[in-house]
Amino acid sequence: MHQNWVGIQAAFLKDEEEKLKKDHSLKSKLGVLVHQAVLHLVPFFVHGTQGVGHKTELYGTPYSLSEDIVSSYRMHPLIPDVFDIDGQKVNASDMTNWKARGIINRFGISKLAHAWGHQPPTTLTLHNYPDFLTKIIMPGEDGPRSMAVIDILRDRERGMVRYNQARRQYGLQAAGGSEDITDNADLVEELRSVYKSVEDVDFLVGCLAESPRPSGYVISNTAFYVFIINASRRILCDRFYQESYNAETYTAEGLAHVENTSFKSMLLRHHPELKNSIGDVTNAFMAWTGTADYSKLQPKTSSGGEGHAEL
Ligand code: HEM
Repeated sequence: MHQNWVGIQAAFLKDEEEKLKKDHSLKSKLGVLVHQAVLHLVPFFVHGTQGVGHKTELYGTPYSLSEDIVSSYRMHPLIPDVFDIDGQKVNASDMTNWKARGIINRFGISKLAHAWGHQPPTTLTLHNYPDFLTKIIMPGEDGPRSMAVIDILRDRERGMVRYNQARRQYGLQAAGGSEDITDNADLVEELRSVYKSVEDVDFLVGCLAESPRPSGYVISNTAFYVFIINASRRILCDRFYQESYNAETYTAEGLAHVENTSFKSMLLRHHPELKNSIGDVTNAFMAWTGTADYSKLQPKTSSGGEGHAEL
């Protein structure tokens, strides 16, 4: 994904891209999967995606996000039910919606950031939905709702194709049965008992069930395809990253700000006290390595927002 953003600028890959475009017979030689991956992904790896002056469309598809990326991004299982903050166990349910302000006032942003930077998310698998999200009360709603149900319901309402059909559309092999989706025998049986046909398996369910996964993969291989294509299009076709990515649009100062800001530098600009929490990771989206002393992370005086404590 990093290379997807910055590119590796390898000339030989560029040549290969040109060859592949001309030589359609390669498709049969290498197989559909390799062909598709190489033809679609090589340009991103070669050029990177930022500020290279592309048009606002890619292979005929304009700047857009499709419903399958929304579905792939339904990552609610990642959220733990309980967070460890300053030696205290805090329920996620006590941190959401109108309760967030109370938690910020109690711990201060630095301690919360330290906790979130260090506590890993859980896994994107079936049977791992956070309990609190299955009975969450949203502002303006009378009773609890289950986000686990809503996630599936919304996909169906919006016409998201089912798992097998999505795989076909990506040029991937469709599953002949649930045993092709997962190597977990219990899940195979469970999928069979819930769905009459493997064709009915919901996209999200199939992705969460998928195993084995390549080493280090948090998301399923199917979701990976969705991400690599959509994440690239989102940047390659966004005029503010492409033809308008210039000083005329951003000002020179604005452009330098974009170029020189990372998540880490932004966090440290606002909260320099987090330096020893973040540690030596250059990408602050990765787990933080610092070992800050919680007692030194005093709450910063909160300014504003108190009026929204109860929505
Ligand atoms: C405490 C944390 C969270 C809460 C309370 C929450 C709650 C919700 C709610 C209420 C919806 C709208 C449901 C509807 O369509 O009626 C939603 C949608 C969604 N959530 Fe979350 N969510 C949380 C965290 C996350 C995280 C961490 C991710 C991804 C990393 C995520 C991804 C999504 C996506 C992709 C949608 C669908 C958006 C769309 O319809 O366009 N959510 N979430």
